[in-house]
Amino acid sequence: MKLRESGMPEEEYWESLFDVELILDRMGIDGKMHDVAELGCGYGTFTLAVARRISGVIETFDIEQTMVDRTLQRSQEAGLSNVRAKVRDVLTEGFGDEPQTKDACLLFNILHGEEPERLLAYAARVVHPGGHVLVIHWRYDPATPRGPSMEIRPRPEQIIEWAQRTEMLRFVAPVLDLPPWHYGLRFVRTAA
Ligand SMILES: C[S@@+](CC[C@H](N)C(=O)[O-])C[C@H]1O[C@@H](n2cnc3c(N)ncnc32)[C@H](O)[C@@H]1O
Repeated sequence: MKLRESGMPEEEYWESLFDVELILDRMGIDGKMHDVAELGCGYGTFTLAVARRISGVIETFDIEQTMVDRTLQRSQEAGLSNVRAKVRDVLTEGFGDEPQTKDACLLFNILHGEEPERLLAYAARVVHPGGHVLVIHWRYDPATPRGPSMEIRPRPEQIIEWAQRTEMLRFVAPVLDLPPWHYGLRFVRTAA
């Protein structure tokens, strides 16, 4: 099931809303990371930039074939051989990877959807103990130029509470400021 309010505006506009490199710097994504999973590649906005930094493979999923195709096309054009993108409904099927195999799992701009706690639990399961589930979301502020309706837009404290309920994730303070419009949360996977 496609998550509510997860449709995308036009690519160029979407990508004008983020400072991707600043976000990845502050979220701690670098060459020490090996394999990474991502829910919702969209246009590959973060997928490609992550692929350039990590030493392993980024495996990403989207429910929309057009998004997967665009991400693969851009990866190919950029000469990146470490991007795997597949159509998958992560809400109903999970990540489908061996548990505890990834250094990190990215949930970027997606936790306003249905069943965020289930998505956090799926993300936690693919990450090995000591690895990270990394979340970014729109600030809880109606002045942001995009973002889901305020009624379903999660505050940082709400996401931290959902993550704690999985009993697999520990929040690594502080809440990160990701200007101009986002915040970031880092969770570490606790021992199984
Ligand atoms: C708001 S976009 C964010 C994309 C990307 N993470 C980013 O921040 O640029 C959400 C993406 O999740 C995808 N999506 C929605 N429901 C999904 C599901 N159940 N399983 C996998 N992908 C889904 C949408 O098609 C869309 O491309």
